[in-house]
Amino acid sequence: GTGHGTRHFLDLKDFSAEQLRTVLDAAARIKARRRKGELAEDRPLIGKTLAMVFDRPSTRTRVSFDVGMRELGGETLMLTGSEMQLGRGETVGDTARVLSRYVDAIMIRILDHGLMLELAEYATVPVINALTKVSHPCQIMADLLTFEEHRGPIRGRTVAWSGDANNVLASWVHAAARFDFTLNIAAPPELSTPQPLLDWAKAQGATVNVTTDAYAAVDGADAVVTDCWVSMGDEDDQHRHNLLVPYRVDARLMAAAAKDAIFMHCLPAHRGEEVTAEVIDGPQSVIFDEAENRLHAQKGILAWCLRAHGL
Ligand code: CP
Ligand code: NVA
Repeated sequence: GTGHGTRHFLDLKDFSAEQLRTVLDAAARIKARRRKGELAEDRPLIGKTLAMVFDRPSTRTRVSFDVGMRELGGETLMLTGSEMQLGRGETVGDTARVLSRYVDAIMIRILDHGLMLELAEYATVPVINALTKVSHPCQIMADLLTFEEHRGPIRGRTVAWSGDANNVLASWVHAAARFDFTLNIAAPPELSTPQPLLDWAKAQGATVNVTTDAYAAVDGADAVVTDCWVSMGDEDDQHRHNLLVPYRVDARLMAAAAKDAIFMHCLPAHRGEEVTAEVIDGPQSVIFDEAENRLHAQKGILAWCLRAHGL
């Protein structure tokens, strides 16, 4: 993530395990200081502005980046794709070079991963991937923080995914390679993990197992993870509902995981679709800690991108 010295945060696979661990440690320290009420002393980004470009809806990402940047002393600017000249055909390259003259970092949510990469190529300030159709690295940084708070170091542990092999899962695959945990993926064949991603994981020496059987995937798992059946951009494909019913996380599937397994979901959730209310609102669910940790994880990411907090 450091082409010509600019610290982009585009995908977990671009980083070494040590770099990611440094960012996570910073996030945990920033969180601990906030808990002690030391927010006022923790403002290294005074005078810095983050542009937040949203081409798609968001609740968590938008609010956590906005609040996180402000808590670090910085300012934010909310831009939606349709309100920008980008929506009228201005190139991403020109947009990147113009924004780079005004702001200190750019966060972008856009389905087209290639356009996000193009923005980063032309921007001379850090670009942060806030979700594309391909990946969601900020989410998985928060998820790693959450897993380790609840269950200890993730190295050598087992995470099971049951559902659509989507953007969130792709970032879990990247994380499995960097943090040395086992990732078991259960997905319908029609919606399974892209082969190039599996090839990448294999080449990295990651332990990523793919199955069509949700029960096989969760066997012995320390965390069971799922996501919505219909991601942004998939709204026209209602066929996926039928395919994904066998991957719903219900109490019976949770009972097949390790006894103290946690349930994780990036949210927004659809009770009765990918997960039952009993599980997501039950004692094993850590979804709101996970949502909260978006704030802390991203403060670590912002600090890294903007070389604050000694990073
Ligand atoms: N998990 C997540 O990225 O949520 P939002 O779409 O609300 O940002
Ligand atoms: N997979 C979902 C995640 C939303 C945060 C989507 O892409 O819509």
